[in-house]
Amino acid sequence: MEHLVINGQRQLCGEVSISGAKNAAVAIIPAAIMAQGKCVIENLPSIEDVYSLVDTLTNIGARCEFVNDNTLVVDSSNIIKYCATYESVKKIRASYYLMGALLGRFKKAEVAMPGGCNFGTRPIDQHLKGFKALGAEYTISHGIVKLSAQKLVGSNIYLDMPSVGATINIMLAASMAEGVTVIENAAKEPHIVDTANFLNMLGARVKGAGTDVIKITGVSELHGAEYMIIPDQIEAGTYMIAGAMAGGDVLVKNIIPKHMDPLSAKLQDMGCVIYEGDDSIRVISTGNLNPTTVKTMTYPGFPTDLQPQMTALLCVANGTSILTENVWDNRFQYINELKRLGGNITVEGRVAVVEGVRQLMGAEVNATDLRAGAALVIAGLAAKGITTIGNVKYIDRGYEKIERKFSELGADIRRVKSE
Ligand code: EPU
Repeated sequence: MEHLVINGQRQLCGEVSISGAKNAAVAIIPAAIMAQGKCVIENLPSIEDVYSLVDTLTNIGARCEFVNDNTLVVDSSNIIKYCATYESVKKIRASYYLMGALLGRFKKAEVAMPGGCNFGTRPIDQHLKGFKALGAEYTISHGIVKLSAQKLVGSNIYLDMPSVGATINIMLAASMAEGVTVIENAAKEPHIVDTANFLNMLGARVKGAGTDVIKITGVSELHGAEYMIIPDQIEAGTYMIAGAMAGGDVLVKNIIPKHMDPLSAKLQDMGCVIYEGDDSIRVISTGNLNPTTVKTMTYPGFPTDLQPQMTALLCVANGTSILTENVWDNRFQYINELKRLGGNITVEGRVAVVEGVRQLMGAEVNATDLRAGAALVIAGLAAKGITTIGNVKYIDRGYEKIERKFSELGADIRRVKSE
């Protein structure tokens, strides 16, 4: 078992370089299943979700080789299986992209229902509705989704809500359907645009990604390509919030500043100074923070994946902040852990009321999911004394070298192995 041990209240100063986007990587790796030929995927984050997916692709017959920590070559020419077992997909929510990719390529897929972070019901009805509209039949039995189609035919699909997963999954399958598919009320997150760009490099014809109407003209075959994944908006946000909370001067490098607009605006409201460069943002904070109001929304709104980290920050603002979670039903499970550090938070349904306290105090806590884990790290860095964080495996799913990156900014944080 591993823990992160933090001795808090060190100022964070210096530069941190952001890795490739997890939520783009977990779509692009399965998308490579559809290519006849080699895909070279660069700027992959070195995180557990990537390794789990690479294992899954290897199990179905793809040849996967890391040429360095962040570059993967996938050759799917000889894939023979269209089944992904529970054993191989249980750790990652995004295993659902195997459905769209296998269905696109083989017109058949058998994929165990996804695992991953648990914060409320995580249905996939919109994904299945999309596959059905393209002509696939499906059954769900013993936790396995089986999909098959004589052929896939393009269709008009209106999503009940702008689901990231459903938008990408339909894009994948529709890229190899006959004719034109139009997805309306599509999600617009940066990783949707990145996946569409990757598909287009493979020879797909996807237009409109990043708007709420995406048009896909199917093709019969996709080929290999070289592609570089975009920087991770959420990892970048996590370091920006940490800089704001620890009262420091942090340059967050290798990012797309536009993706950070909703967070930059909030940090400015709270009294931080933000300098935007071409591919970096500098956050300067005295640690003297105004309270604020945050509502999570789909892109370009404030990302739900920064909600726990933001709650940690609001814990030390000078007054009462209100945070509303609009994307997930139940993404406040970590609040009890923040309370162990002295956070004064009341949750009512989807709303958290955060009364700022003068100081958080170190304690023993557990990550309840990936972003909750990041929030505890940030809180521990600002707290007085020692914080020990368990369930580090959640954090490792999505953050590359988190303790090294924070140490380089001046934090006292280390990973400790125990029996
Ligand atoms: N929803 C449905 N039916 C569906 C799909 C979604 O009702 O068929 C609902 C969900 O229950 C949720 C909302 O729609 O209330 C949004 O879900 P979405 O499908 O957009 O989420 P997702 O694709 O499962 C991705 C990210 C999450 C991120 C959300 C929202 C990946 C692999 N995961 O999940 O990231 O929170 O979009 O932006 O891209 C994370 O990185 O920590 C993470 C959880």
